[in-house]
Amino acid sequence: MNEISQPTAQQGGRHGNPLWSSRLAFILAATGSAVGLGNIWKFPYITGEYGGGAFVLVYLLCIALIGVPILIAEVMLGRRGRRSPLHTMATLAREDGCSAHWLLLGGMGMLAGWLILSFYSVIGGWSLAYVGNAVSGQFAGADANQIGTLFGDMLARPATLLGWHSLFMLVVIAIVCRGLKSGMEKAINLLMPLLFLLLLVMVGYAMSTPGFEQATSFLFNPDFSKLTTEAVLTALGHAFFTLSLASGAMMAYGSFLPKEYSVTGTAVTIAIVDTVVALLAGLAIFPLVFSNGLEVAAGPGLIFQTLPLAFGQMPFGILFGSLFFALLLIAAITSAISMLEPAVEWLEERQQGNRLRAALIAGIAVWTLGIVNALSFNLLGDVHPLGFLTAFEGKTIFDLLDYLTANIMLPLGGLLMAVYAGWAMSAQALAQALSLQPGMLFNTLRFVLRFISPVLVLVVFINQLV
Ligand code: TRP
Repeated sequence: MNEISQPTAQQGGRHGNPLWSSRLAFILAATGSAVGLGNIWKFPYITGEYGGGAFVLVYLLCIALIGVPILIAEVMLGRRGRRSPLHTMATLAREDGCSAHWLLLGGMGMLAGWLILSFYSVIGGWSLAYVGNAVSGQFAGADANQIGTLFGDMLARPATLLGWHSLFMLVVIAIVCRGLKSGMEKAINLLMPLLFLLLLVMVGYAMSTPGFEQATSFLFNPDFSKLTTEAVLTALGHAFFTLSLASGAMMAYGSFLPKEYSVTGTAVTIAIVDTVVALLAGLAIFPLVFSNGLEVAAGPGLIFQTLPLAFGQMPFGILFGSLFFALLLIAAITSAISMLEPAVEWLEERQQGNRLRAALIAGIAVWTLGIVNALSFNLLGDVHPLGFLTAFEGKTIFDLLDYLTANIMLPLGGLLMAVYAGWAMSAQALAQALSLQPGMLFNTLRFVLRFISPVLVLVVFINQLV
């Protein structure tokens, strides 16, 4: 059986693993986890599919009322437990005198991380492929049709998709098996600001196109008649996805956080940066969609069929295009490592610290499932496992895994984390774990964790069911 007899680790050290070297290092790593394909790839395409403004508004509300409090709870739990999510939950449940079953919450998180990474890696592979396309000048002067064909051809070839998926996973495993060394911290330190800068350049370009006004109105003028219950559930799920919540990633990162840093301030910072990046991505992409008469509801291919058009036409397009996709790739990698980390940490604890082996086992498990996801764009494109249910009509295996994780597992995990922090922990334990004095801020946060966040998640769930 698992040996769960670690001393309470409030004071820091854990099997020789270092803690983050500064508050900034943690913020950057957690931001690196949060800012990823979710912001630049997924947010624009689901916003397009669910009709724009009203969806964006609901998403922002979900971030503020549900995402931020649960992010605070998850990082706090990780810092208290100082172990992998599964062992952390087991240790804390014992300390707090709760049912040992709480460890399942850690387990479900790791499972979600595994499932998500298996399709995330396929899109990470697309980003890799597009770095190649950009560098080799394939976008230069191309029209919407040619760009569409470039994308379609990539999807149609199983071997190509599998190759890029494998390469992406290889990079992720190579980084994770080394541990989060200062090299990683330094790389994130440089690359995240660069990503920001390039996004601003893209928005600048988008502002010069005729579709800019239409795009801002699409993004920021809510039309509630377009808001379906599925859209609300998707907005909720995406709030969890984009903040890397409820899969143990933030718990694992929190487990390296020194005691003296503020969890609340840090969490708010991460959420703000993450949200700004998503909105900027929308402002960079939708003007091009409208200017070129493209389909807003194009689905997962949206950014791969819009941004290359801009790169093909702007001055220094090859340079900017290459940089942009390289940074998209980096954003994907810094997120992917955080998805693999909880499982690796857990395997490592079980195998007395053999990190290389742990990273290989976890990575190969993800890669294997990823094969099915890659093939669901071509060979398995007509396989719709739950197609007999109207809600899942036409959904491929890839679509289903995305739906199951983002719309069901993450909200459920988040709900349980809020319940743990708000109900299973005493007010005193919570205040101590967050280093907050009893007062307005603490009382509001605890109230939100006890009532607002769980109830909102439940309401959305129940609405979806009926
Ligand atoms: N937040 C990342 C993004 O927006 C994805 C991500 C990283 C994630 N770690 C996660 C999603 C854990 C869910 C769970 O791209």
